[in-house]
Amino acid sequence: MEQFNHSTPPVFPGTMKVNEQNHLEIGGIDTVALAEKYSTPLYIYDIDLIKSRINEFKSAFSTYKKETQVAYASKAFSSLALYQILAEEGVSLDVVSGGELYLAIKAGFPAEKIHFHGNNKSHQELVEALNANIGCIVVDNFTELDMINQLTTLHQKKMKVLIRVTPGIEAHTHEYITTGQADSKFGFDLSSGQAREAVELAQQHPYIDVIGLHAHIGSQIFETAGYEAVIERLMVNAKEWKKEVRFDLQVLNVGGGFGIRYTNEDQPLSIGEYALSIIKNVEQQAKNLELALPEIWIEPGRSIVGEAGTTIYTVGTEKTIPEIRKYISVDGGMADNIRPALYEAEYTGVLANKVYAPYDSKVSVAGKACESGDMLIWDLELPEVEQGDYLAVLSTGAYGYSMASNYNRLPRPAVVFVENQQDFLAIRRETYDDFMKLEQDIHRSV
Ligand code: LLP
Repeated sequence: MEQFNHSTPPVFPGTMKVNEQNHLEIGGIDTVALAEKYSTPLYIYDIDLIKSRINEFKSAFSTYKKETQVAYASKAFSSLALYQILAEEGVSLDVVSGGELYLAIKAGFPAEKIHFHGNNKSHQELVEALNANIGCIVVDNFTELDMINQLTTLHQKKMKVLIRVTPGIEAHTHEYITTGQADSKFGFDLSSGQAREAVELAQQHPYIDVIGLHAHIGSQIFETAGYEAVIERLMVNAKEWKKEVRFDLQVLNVGGGFGIRYTNEDQPLSIGEYALSIIKNVEQQAKNLELALPEIWIEPGRSIVGEAGTTIYTVGTEKTIPEIRKYISVDGGMADNIRPALYEAEYTGVLANKVYAPYDSKVSVAGKACESGDMLIWDLELPEVEQGDYLAVLSTGAYGYSMASNYNRLPRPAVVFVENQQDFLAIRRETYDDFMKLEQDIHRSV
């Protein structure tokens, strides 16, 4: 079979491969058959890859001498069926809203393994968290601390909390920056003393059990230096607060942010490499500072589901501007993947119905929304593209469906899980009738 003739063939993640029909296959299932069965646009998740990522995290951290928790960051992608799989795989869960909490509880996710994040948790959301008996709340600011104090006292229920610290360290891909005063809407600032004050205050509340500190330094991080810096900063402060306010650091949560491959230019570290560095640095700091080893918690989102997701589109119209560019348009775009428009995020793709063919065409892939910025991929090398071809865009599993919208009244696509030659409809496609469920007819009789 003819191989790619362009310089950078995509690296296929997980169980993705090309079958005898020259079609893209995931989980042992032909994606062309899936597109025909479920229609397009279609998100396909490789469940085997999700499970193996979870296992990589779990086994990488199992070498640590104290307990560790891998909490999946739901915001990357949530669904009832995914929560059920995660529960079976034994991970914890990070939720950031009453909506995510509701879905997790509906999925039967063990409440004691749920951590609640967010910079503006409402009174109602905190009540829901208390009623559900979740494992812990990551407290973000003084208003929230006050609300938790009042509610736990009223309900006479103890609640474990982590104090979210703005560490003054920001990491993105290849570099991290250290800033004195961290200008962020999240967390308690270290440099001005707010974080220490929060710890001290929270410890005075009889129904609040302060078990540790949390910091999240960024997304799509390819180096370990940012994690090293944040570990040092949090543990040095924990040591001071131990003396000053008798704070006992039982849990150190270093957040998520582990990078993934979107295109061949991305070269993320392995999960083992991130884990090893985190473990080594926590152990080193504990030794230097004469602190007991804390539990290590992490919150990966993208690195668990990102590469496991593929979106299949049908190619529709084309427009060639001589000497300039050839556009092809697909039946989705920014409504199902806002990341290129929002962050200039880059993706790669292949034609699912003819993967290996001479790559003698270069196209720019446009979405169908009424917005010039609705472009999915610029200058993608592909075989000759025809109307009706299926374009597979790789690594769309994180922040794709979860950030999808109904812009232009495009119904949100279906989500299919594949594993061991079986497909399972995890979220059905939205319909026009679904739109009508929310609408009120001005002529309706009252
Ligand atoms: N923990 C906290 C406190 C976070 O804020 C985040 C992500 C995570 C964990 C998970 O990070 P991950 O491992 O997925 O990188 N919409 C953006 C990403 C926003 C991330 C927000 N926080 C995107 O599409 O790239």
